[in-house]
Amino acid sequence: MKIATIVGARPQFIKAATVSRVLRRTDGMHEVIIHTGQHYDANMSEIFFKELQIPEPDYNLEVGSATHGKQTGMMLDRIEQVLLKEMPDWVLTYGDTNSTVAGSLAATKLHIPTAHVEAGLRSFNRRMPEEINRIATDHVSDLLFAPTRNAMELLAREGLTERACFTGDVMFDSILHYKQLVTEKHRPQSIGDLQEYYLATIHRPENTDDPQRLKDIFTAFSKLDKTVVIPLHPRTQKLIGKLNVPAGHNVKIVEPVSYLQMIYLLKHCSMVLTDSGGLQKEAYFMQKMCVTLRDETEWIETLENGWNVIVGADPEKIIRAVNRPQPGAQSKAFGDGKAAEKVVEFLK
Ligand code: UD1
Repeated sequence: MKIATIVGARPQFIKAATVSRVLRRTDGMHEVIIHTGQHYDANMSEIFFKELQIPEPDYNLEVGSATHGKQTGMMLDRIEQVLLKEMPDWVLTYGDTNSTVAGSLAATKLHIPTAHVEAGLRSFNRRMPEEINRIATDHVSDLLFAPTRNAMELLAREGLTERACFTGDVMFDSILHYKQLVTEKHRPQSIGDLQEYYLATIHRPENTDDPQRLKDIFTAFSKLDKTVVIPLHPRTQKLIGKLNVPAGHNVKIVEPVSYLQMIYLLKHCSMVLTDSGGLQKEAYFMQKMCVTLRDETEWIETLENGWNVIVGADPEKIIRAVNRPQPGAQSKAFGDGKAAEKVVEFLK
């Protein structure tokens, strides 16, 4: 069975690494990796392939950055050409980026069966590009791999039960596997001898493209009682330069880090503040409290017992959330750590 895996952005490399490892040790499975080139900086792409030992992509479509229409359109065109040449039995897409929607659409139009890993996620905020990508991908794909029971329920509400399979979350598998490999050598040099810190990331357009929200978030950070380490996404870095955002003495902006360095930072941080979807879960898996700098979350399971709270960009709410009491117990909402095996079983 020939599987074409389509990836393009940082979180997809992490998800695909885990499934790819299982695919490649399964008899009768052959994988072709197509990288759209959505993320192209070495520290946003190449480093993940090396560190996670993902085989070199068979194709790099070098699409790069552009407006949504242009970027997605170029991907559709280039993915179609590769699929016509390779004619895989299945196309596998991940998550909710422009690479996901382009991959699933190109494949379905060619009548190639398409499976979506991390299906059934909804924020119910249609202004997020990812929400549109999720809805479109789930509705055109043939197999929907849901990471949680809640995702299964949301797919059912949209009439997609027949295509939905519960697998658990491949990101949970991933943390369980890679956290054992993290050592002191993964401590990013850029944090110096810092011992106690909060770990933050900001890259969502709802925050980066709204100067007031971005300023509010940084104002809150500058009032916190510990240093805030921010491995900064290039889009935010570019915008911060333009905006004259107040950078408090306790705000430490560093270059984007690798996955194992991120796990190191997670393991040793006091708390996580983020607008990323993936990092909310990774904080939960590493048993760290999280403050979500958005107005909603797709990962409602992380809210249970106060592990994660949603605060938007309001400085007072951010500070209050950082000072909240320790949360209660965690449930096992994200599966048993064998989601990748289930994905491959369902494909078989
Ligand atoms: C994309 C995904 C988002 C995901 C994120 C993970 C979409 C719509 N969004 O957002 O869901 O959470 O990836 O990181 O697909 N840039 C660089 N170098 C790079 C990549 C990007 O400098 O290697 C800069 C460019 O200025 C670019 C901007 O970042 O215009 C945005 O990149 P893009 O890939 O369009 O979206 P992300 O914000 O990375």
